[in-house]
Amino acid sequence: MSKQSRAPIFENLYNRSKRKVISFHTPGHKNGRGIDPKFRDLPAKTLFHFDVTVFPEVDSLHDPVSSIKRAQILMAEAYGVQHSFFLVNGSTVGNQAMLMSACSPGDSIIVSRNAHKSILAGIILAGLWPIWIQPKVDQNLDILFDPTPEQIEQAIIQFPEAKAVFVTSPTYNGVTADLLKISEIVHRYGKVLLVDEAHGPHLKFHEDLPISAVEAGADLCVQSTHKILSALSQGSVLHFNSELLDINRVKKVISMLQTTSPNYLTLASIDMARRQAVLHGEKIFERVIKMAEEGRKKINNTKHFFSFTRKEIQARGYDLDVSKLTVNVTKSGFSGKEVDAILAKEYNIQVDAADLFNLIAIMGVGSEKSDVDALTDALADIDEKYHGQAKNWILQIPSLSTEMVMMPREVFLSKKTKRVPLTKAAGHISAQTLTPYPPGIPVLIPGERITKEICNYLLNLSEKELRVSGQETDTLRTVKVVC
Ligand SMILES: Cc1ncc(COP(=O)(O)O)c(C=O)c1O
Repeated sequence: MSKQSRAPIFENLYNRSKRKVISFHTPGHKNGRGIDPKFRDLPAKTLFHFDVTVFPEVDSLHDPVSSIKRAQILMAEAYGVQHSFFLVNGSTVGNQAMLMSACSPGDSIIVSRNAHKSILAGIILAGLWPIWIQPKVDQNLDILFDPTPEQIEQAIIQFPEAKAVFVTSPTYNGVTADLLKISEIVHRYGKVLLVDEAHGPHLKFHEDLPISAVEAGADLCVQSTHKILSALSQGSVLHFNSELLDINRVKKVISMLQTTSPNYLTLASIDMARRQAVLHGEKIFERVIKMAEEGRKKINNTKHFFSFTRKEIQARGYDLDVSKLTVNVTKSGFSGKEVDAILAKEYNIQVDAADLFNLIAIMGVGSEKSDVDALTDALADIDEKYHGQAKNWILQIPSLSTEMVMMPREVFLSKKTKRVPLTKAAGHISAQTLTPYPPGIPVLIPGERITKEICNYLLNLSEKELRVSGQETDTLRTVKVVC
């Protein structure tokens, strides 16, 4: 077979589809199961007719006047907001649009350091000064917690020039912040509240789920409709609900950032996901919550795995979307990545993410009890068969530098950089983002002063030959700085 007769991506996905992998990852429709039957059962040949371009009959995402406009109005009504914008490049583009529309170049914004990487991209695109808040490490659960309302108020008092506050809620682990309190504080000081609710498009649809950002009073909030509800990948929504911001600016920014050839299948799937959530969401999430809680109990009956409960999270001042199962593996003698690989290879189960300490299993509208049984049976099996010595890993982050000397955008555009040995990097200005996993948050950001503590932390990682995202060279002996 000639090389050019191969289609590696198609072949890989086609072969994988035959294995009927049990999905604990996004998208939430779980191999199509959760998609509204009216949509799911269309023959593929009909679906390809949905793949069109912009003309009056199908409306324009950039200037909607008919079906897209009506679908966006229905979405806004479903979430109780002033306006909803459909996004076809995920919450990634939504996060960037929020920063670019709420702030102007040179403004500062208060943001937790464990924000998704689209936030740093948004900070660079918008030309902002980030005011980082250090997340809290919980060494019993081996996860990071977003800033508390008190930390946010402290930051606003210390940096009154900040234009906006950016919060991620829920986090990847399903932990939600006290958004009611945060919204009250942020608005009391006349600031704008932006919320990355990528993992929370479903919160609104069941009373046993934490309060959603739109209900708590966010000015702008982005949701990945594809992550837990039934939209196709990349289908997301940006909700506008603000007396402080100009909706026309938001509209312009979104239009600047999105493709002129949106995928109408994705748009239709966002529309159908909203319809399904409003008509059947309560029943669907009643079932998902019950399955997740039963699964959590079974996991907590194993000897070496545990999954924290809503009560444990509430005791820490936060809330939990229980449909997310974070499985701590540290007592098993394996890393989360190793258990992830065993689940995939031996049990045909794919989780969404894994690090040294935890696995994250995401449930969605398409999840079934048989999936949860398969996961809990597999974990019980691994628990019996494989366990070794408990690992004494400790989730640690250094105290992060908060001195921003240059704007990340300035550094990004500057050609005046050089590499210096890590041993001599303290005092220099970073020209690089370095993100060790775990904890998965950047310990260096372009434009900030490098501290001795951060150098030592990175040197320690480099001795263990742990790879750090963004390191650019094979070994982490040097770091790029501003000349
Ligand atoms: C917290 C958070 N925000 C934003 C995103 C980006 O969302 P999307 O994949 O829809 O672009 C992710 C992706 O995983 C995320 O975890």
